[in-house]
Amino acid sequence: MANLFYALCCKHGTDKGNVHRYDAAYSQLLEPYLKLHRPIRLLEIGVDSGASIHLWNDYFNRPQIFGIDIDPRARRHESENCTIFVGDQADPEFLREVIRQTGGRWDIVIDDGGHLMHQQQISHGVLWPHIVPGGMYVIEDLHTSLLRSSKWNPSHIPTTLDWLLEKARAQVTRRRRRHPPITFAFSGEACFIIKP
Ligand SMILES: C[S@@+](CC[C@H](N)C(=O)[O-])C[C@H]1O[C@@H](n2cnc3c(N)ncnc32)[C@H](O)[C@@H]1O
Repeated sequence: MANLFYALCCKHGTDKGNVHRYDAAYSQLLEPYLKLHRPIRLLEIGVDSGASIHLWNDYFNRPQIFGIDIDPRARRHESENCTIFVGDQADPEFLREVIRQTGGRWDIVIDDGGHLMHQQQISHGVLWPHIVPGGMYVIEDLHTSLLRSSKWNPSHIPTTLDWLLEKARAQVTRRRRRHPPITFAFSGEACFIIKP
């Protein structure tokens, strides 16, 4: 299945395969969602040329796809099973409107948008509660946490990498658990966060 994901990335021209090599992690972690007995609900922040929208369409059986992009040209990738919302991933009001219009309940959310610290953290903060149990939130391109230019962190907040590690640390130090912990799977520059 790793080869299939990689091949589809190349076929559609998304950099998730040959550039970032997210293919091994995606192949492994997406497997349970291929077995759902209903169409998967997937939201991706960052549509661009539509390459990954085509990837998801090919990879899943009749997926229900939602895309977010700040660039209105992304709307050209709308189709019967794909709805595009134009707005800023760092605007909580915009994200709440997306949730209101779609009903949320996503199996998978992928953040492949602007990759700035506050964008990644605001989007996760608003969207995570609307992931179904067993669902997954992916933050791609975390290497921007290591780039020194303030372009990536204009609000001077903790980097997304540190923010994720702090969330993971808080779970490690907790002894008694009422609920199973969240899974944080790091692979290359991406973190796959799985809701129990
Ligand atoms: C890396 S591209 C997405 C690539 C696509 N996911 C793929 O794999 O083919 C990033 C996209 O994020 C969009 N973007 C940048 N900043 C954004 C923001 N603040 N809110 C929403 N989208 C944003 C850009 O317009 C661009 O289309």
